[in-house]
Amino acid sequence: MKLAVAGKGGAGKSTIVSLMARVLSEQGKKVIVIDADPDMNQASLLGIPDDVVITPVSELKELIAERTGTTPGQPAPFFTMNPKVSDIPSKYSVTVGGITLLTMGTIKRGGGGCACPENAFIKSLISHLFIAREEWVILDMEAGIEHLGRGTALGVDHLLVVVEPSKTSIATAHRVNQLARDIGIKKVLIAANKLRNKEDRAIIEDHLPGYDILGFVEYSDEIKEISSFGKSVFSARVTILDQIEKLITTLG
Ligand SMILES: Nc1ncnc2c1ncn2[C@@H]1O[C@H](COP(=O)(O)OP(=O)(O)O)[C@@H](O)[C@H]1O
Ligand SMILES: [Mg+2]
Repeated sequence: MKLAVAGKGGAGKSTIVSLMARVLSEQGKKVIVIDADPDMNQASLLGIPDDVVITPVSELKELIAERTGTTPGQPAPFFTMNPKVSDIPSKYSVTVGGITLLTMGTIKRGGGGCACPENAFIKSLISHLFIAREEWVILDMEAGIEHLGRGTALGVDHLLVVVEPSKTSIATAHRVNQLARDIGIKKVLIAANKLRNKEDRAIIEDHLPGYDILGFVEYSDEIKEISSFGKSVFSARVTILDQIEKLITTLG
């Protein structure tokens, strides 16, 4: 299963991704988590110790330049759109339990405007992971779906949009849905998160008519505590795991 996860900042993308990875690994499945959120908080959520060095792929400037046929820091009018990336996952990922984490880092725009070689490299890498690997691959993205292009979208089984019951979060879902259509993703699913009551659930259902709602996750103080205290999703007793398991089962 290849899953890309989007949604408004703060809606709970990273939380849902790490909880899904936990449940899947406890089911004995192998999971690759790609952290493409500039916050880069998957290592902490997945309980990877602080002293484990994780190199964000976007920081591999020399390597990216070499593979894309460019010079670091120089304008790149021409570059390779499909650089070799197959050796990157094994070299730059960290595996703990059954979960492999690969961190993309932040792509800064250069003086010339576009960080195109870096973008091409990251897109190729994501595409490679979506297409070449047999494991569950879950991509934790920033608010939009900038890391996906037409090529990358081909490998995505579902785009999961995490939505909390707020106007802005719902507006982001509509926008992401449109972007997803533009790049040819057919399956957009909603994961409703942080629901406190029936009214919250109705807000999501009423404002996203015609959308496929994969499931509902309640607001949980334990989850809130995980991020407040920098804990991992493994360390805490989490009563909403059954709701996460349901999302996974419904995905098939
Ligand atoms: N179901 C939930 N219940 C309570 N708090 C949640 C829930 N899901 C996410 N949060 C909290 O919301 C905040 C944002 O979550 P996060 O996963 O970092 O969002 P995103 O990755 O979309 O920016 C965090 O403090 C997190 O603990
Ligand atoms: Mg996040």
